[in-house]
Amino acid sequence: MSDDRPIGDTVERREELRRQEEASAERQHARGKLTARERITGLLDAGSFTELDPYVEHRASALGMDQRKWLGDGVVTGSGTVDGRRVYVYSQDFGFMGGSLGAAHARKICRVLDLAIQNGAPIIGFHDSGGARIQEGVASLGGYGEIFRRNVQASGVIPQIAVIAGPTAGGASYSPALMDFTLMVEGIATMFITGPRVVKQVTGEEVDPETLGGAETHGSVTGVASLTLGSEAEAMEAVRMILSYLPPNNLDDPAQAPSSEPSRDTMDIIPDESSQAYDTHDLIDAITDAGSFFEIQPFYAMNAVVGFGRLGGRSIGVVASQPSVMAGTMTIDSSDKISRFVRLCDAFNLPVLTLQDVPGYIPGVDQEHRGIIRHGAKVIYAYSEATVPKVTVILRKSYGGAYIALGSKHLGTDFVYALPGAEVAVMGAEGAVEIVYRREIAAEPEKRDDLIAKYREEFSNPYQAAKLGFIDDVIEPGEIRERAIAAFELLSKKRVKVHPPKKHGNMPV
Ligand code: HXC
Repeated sequence: MSDDRPIGDTVERREELRRQEEASAERQHARGKLTARERITGLLDAGSFTELDPYVEHRASALGMDQRKWLGDGVVTGSGTVDGRRVYVYSQDFGFMGGSLGAAHARKICRVLDLAIQNGAPIIGFHDSGGARIQEGVASLGGYGEIFRRNVQASGVIPQIAVIAGPTAGGASYSPALMDFTLMVEGIATMFITGPRVVKQVTGEEVDPETLGGAETHGSVTGVASLTLGSEAEAMEAVRMILSYLPPNNLDDPAQAPSSEPSRDTMDIIPDESSQAYDTHDLIDAITDAGSFFEIQPFYAMNAVVGFGRLGGRSIGVVASQPSVMAGTMTIDSSDKISRFVRLCDAFNLPVLTLQDVPGYIPGVDQEHRGIIRHGAKVIYAYSEATVPKVTVILRKSYGGAYIALGSKHLGTDFVYALPGAEVAVMGAEGAVEIVYRREIAAEPEKRDDLIAKYREEFSNPYQAAKLGFIDDVIEPGEIRERAIAAFELLSKKRVKVHPPKKHGNMPV
């Protein structure tokens, strides 16, 4: 080589990168956090990472920025593989200006998002940031806008996963919210639009960061977190698990896994008495392949359970009411949880199995005034819109709006099965006779029990619905797994064209 100067330059720059990362590592480790690069190498298959743009620097000069340079501008980006499958990644480096997002930092994230979309591969982002870089003003706000637009373009095309492993303040919270999954690491992750100091200034409320927007708050109160994990290593494992159920993009199917029989059977889980509760997790575990159920939002709206599972090795989405929490009634929060999950499954070609044991949407002034009508409507929207194979099993109660909304034939479900004790009716017998026989009961209260029994005999069974073709078969609990496997096999080549063609719908919010 005639001129070794450029190579010398590169060596020097690589050395500078190493020095700045060492400095960052010291501070991150002192805070109990991994560095941006450790997060990437911890997630990806060993030796698979190809870095992009390591020498990019910001071009800002205001407020002393010309004196502050950092190779890579506080974010590591690139691509690698997870269990052999291609993914794109970015990871914010809190060590440079608190991982704050300036224009160059944003451009690097946009580039990996573009590449992920173009190549049909999932994107995974590690978030650890103080939000918009104050010194770069509107340039950093613009950077967020560019990222948000790409998150929306990528939505329904490639899986998008955000791991929150530090503060995610201000506008930084919106990108994870636009992605498919937000995983928060307990003890180090916080997410809020305005932090405790601003909250105190504006409203006078005193609140600590953890209570305002820590993992527990977002995992159980707000529903912002899809999962909360005890450590960064657990978060990486959760990312690997999620990816294992999903295809790399909307044009592919999820990978087939080996089938494995569940370790228990479905008999004796559901009590005959419809007012007796049971844990729907037991039923899901007895239906799906051994150990395959992976729950999403396990502590939010616990009256409904959603998650991924496998049936005979095939990836599916499971939606189940939870009779042991609020008797499995539908609420605003459970409607949001279910509708978003069904849309995720539909976008990524995962068949949906619905297990229904629901007395209805919950009554009450609070729920009505907070808009259960528009939230509940989302469930109807999501099931009606979903063209993936759908199978519903009515276990016991199936009343009113919940009968229709939670995967009924009327919304396009392909197969609906019911157990012999299923009660498919407009409402429960007690409520129904109080309305229909109000005058008779007022005159002769002793007739009430007879009227309830008569109503039960007439309506609280699966055969009224079966006669009308709304239920395909009445099956025993022990048959649920094999019938569901057979149904999804039958539907495995299902293709539906959406008519009339439209730009997009307008889902209630
Ligand atoms: C520039 C920032 C920064 C920011 C932190 N830093 N946030 N620099 N812009 N947004 C810098 C700090 O000055 C400090 O630099 C270093 O990062 C570490 O920050 P510390 O405060 O020392 O760390 P810590 O005590 O852990 O607190 C972290 C923090 C806090 C909670 C994130 O820094 C903070 O509250 N930052 C501001 C958060 C915020 O309000 N962001 C919203 C921006 S507006 P030195 O040089 O001392 O190491 C926004 C709107 C976008 O995002 C809207 C889009 C729709």
